[in-house]
Amino acid sequence: MTLIKTRLLTPDEPGAIREASRILQSGGLVAFPTETVYGLGGDALSPEAAAKIYAAKGRPSDNPLIVHIAEPGDVKRLAREIPSAAGTLLHAFWPGPLTMILPKKSSVPDATTGGLDTVAIRMPAHPAALRLIRESGILIAAPSANLSGRPSPTDAEHVREDLSGRIDMILDGGPVGIRIASTNIDLTGDKPTILRPGFITKDMLEAMIGPVEIDPSLIHPDPNLRPRAPGMKYTHYAPKGNLTIIEDAEKPDLVTPAVAERIRKLADEAVSAGKHTVILTTEDHQSLYNGYPLILLGEKRNGRTVAAHLYGALRECDAAGAEIILSESFRADELGGAIMNRLLKAAGHDLVSV
Ligand code: TXA
Ligand code: MG
Repeated sequence: MTLIKTRLLTPDEPGAIREASRILQSGGLVAFPTETVYGLGGDALSPEAAAKIYAAKGRPSDNPLIVHIAEPGDVKRLAREIPSAAGTLLHAFWPGPLTMILPKKSSVPDATTGGLDTVAIRMPAHPAALRLIRESGILIAAPSANLSGRPSPTDAEHVREDLSGRIDMILDGGPVGIRIASTNIDLTGDKPTILRPGFITKDMLEAMIGPVEIDPSLIHPDPNLRPRAPGMKYTHYAPKGNLTIIEDAEKPDLVTPAVAERIRKLADEAVSAGKHTVILTTEDHQSLYNGYPLILLGEKRNGRTVAAHLYGALRECDAAGAEIILSESFRADELGGAIMNRLLKAAGHDLVSV
């Protein structure tokens, strides 16, 4: 693609939001911070803008986009039916890291939803994102602002690395808070179903609307099962090196001595083979790997810190030139499910059980 000039402004610079709004209104692309990860925004009601987003990311165009809104009332502009569960959830969790999938109105172009008859909607909890949507008057379609397949960007610097020269502007709001993408819940069927686990957990959702299912492909990835969302079939967040997750099949939520021993053994083998190797572990477990190069993922006891370090750690692996990456597994707490979902995708499901 031909390179264009990418402007980098902070949202608080005078005129920055106005300039970003002008770009969106004329069909251009602006990357902006949300509370989860940076989004790559374009006009959700314009098929041309959607096409530009796919081109800039190098993303297959059957992978649908999330539409970002700034007023809950705007759901009506996008969805042809609003089940009562949607009303309950938006009161409970918006603005915030929850995306709801609803039947779409015909005014939402197929290009935005990857040809699906449904639309994913969320109201982000980030002041710059909300100002941008409000001042531009544009409902903003935005995937995460990374090149397709790379870890999602949690800082403007990651966006610059991936998309400089490919988009019109980056609004640099610094590092974001949650750093793991939103929970996706499908409300179009008989039972509310989580398609992508995230910061808003199953328990939090069930406390508001009763039983919630988890899409079976998240629990037992089966290449023969057709995923509910096309995005679920792609490898995501992948670092350049080869990532393997090591877990104890009997105690998948614990780092048992057998797990640590296997990780050290695999690291020794990789190093002997001349491979640049790193281990992904948590602060609590670093002493298990004295002398090995480590990248730390927060504290095991506190899932939020692990989630917040994950995408950044995968980018650090690339920056360190890691060829072999060995990771512990995470399953225990509620966020453990979201963390493992991302790790498994990043690893292309390369999981070793001891
Ligand atoms: O936190 C987030 O969700 C971030 C920020 C920027 O809002 N966005 C994000 O977008 O992670 P993206 O495009 O990287 O992931 C969107 C996910 C994909 O897995 C996609 O398949 C799914 O949402 N999705 C979008 N529209 C859908 C639909 N109509 N039905 C089912 N899944 C959908
Ligand atoms: Mg993404």
